[in-house]
Amino acid sequence: MSNPVRKAVFPVGGLGTRFLPATKSLPKEMLPVVDKPLVQHAVEEARAAGIEEFIFVTGRGKTAIEDHFDRSAELRGLLEVRGRDDAVEAIEAWLPATGSVAYTRQREPLGLGHAVWCARHLVGDEPFAVLLADDLVVADPPCLSQMVDAYRRTGGNVVAVMEVPAGHVSRYGILDVASDMGRLVAARGLVEKPRVGSAPSRLAIIGRYILDPGIFDRLGNAAKGAGGEIQLTDALSAMLGSTPFHGFRYDGVRYDCGDKVGFLHANIALALARPDMGDEVREIVRDIARTL
Ligand code: G1P
Repeated sequence: MSNPVRKAVFPVGGLGTRFLPATKSLPKEMLPVVDKPLVQHAVEEARAAGIEEFIFVTGRGKTAIEDHFDRSAELRGLLEVRGRDDAVEAIEAWLPATGSVAYTRQREPLGLGHAVWCARHLVGDEPFAVLLADDLVVADPPCLSQMVDAYRRTGGNVVAVMEVPAGHVSRYGILDVASDMGRLVAARGLVEKPRVGSAPSRLAIIGRYILDPGIFDRLGNAAKGAGGEIQLTDALSAMLGSTPFHGFRYDGVRYDCGDKVGFLHANIALALARPDMGDEVREIVRDIARTL
């Protein structure tokens, strides 16, 4: 069966102020979880879900991302001379095919909705995925694959959701739940970053979306929302009633790598799961725990 979702948008224009000074000259999406940049984790997830075209919405100071998704003939040559086939594999095996990666720049930091809108000509008139590299999701099958499966049944807009603690709702887009069908949730409304105590639920959107191209019209006319930014959540909310909308409870673990503690958590968890270093890291963690 052909894949109904062929294109993915990666908004990677954010300033990454929460990770200063590391992100003074390094894009936050290039921060590694163990030895792989966050953005590569997201691209690999998209590839596994059958995505064929990769659209990055970048900004100033983000050229390291373009270099990362390019071939480095010089490095490859050096590694070959040294007989490091394993390292050649590590720098190339995951590269999307030549011509399947596109970049456009978001010229002003007007928010996630605006970043997605910047990709409208590259996406065209077909459903597409959006992946926020800050959200690292460890899942089997990968989160976006699970969503594509759900999308085959639902069509419309599908967002990955998870229950968050009541005190965290103001960090997320939150669903006002109309009917809860277990994995799938229908909403009567969506709010971006509600105040603690006034959120309609604890069901939060995480950074995985499958979107109907009709979203571009909404984003093009969108007013500024929470934080003075053009919000994807508001455009999704405006489409309720005219386009099917579903929250999707994925099966997997999500790490909030936009947050320092979440980022460290991801590094420890993924290192522990690695066959080449898990045992050593377990020893280190035990040692540290003993001193607490
Ligand atoms: C964005 C979205 C928000 C979503 C979150 C998931 O917020 O606007 O709706 O819940 O990603 O990580 P940001 O984290 O960019 O402020």
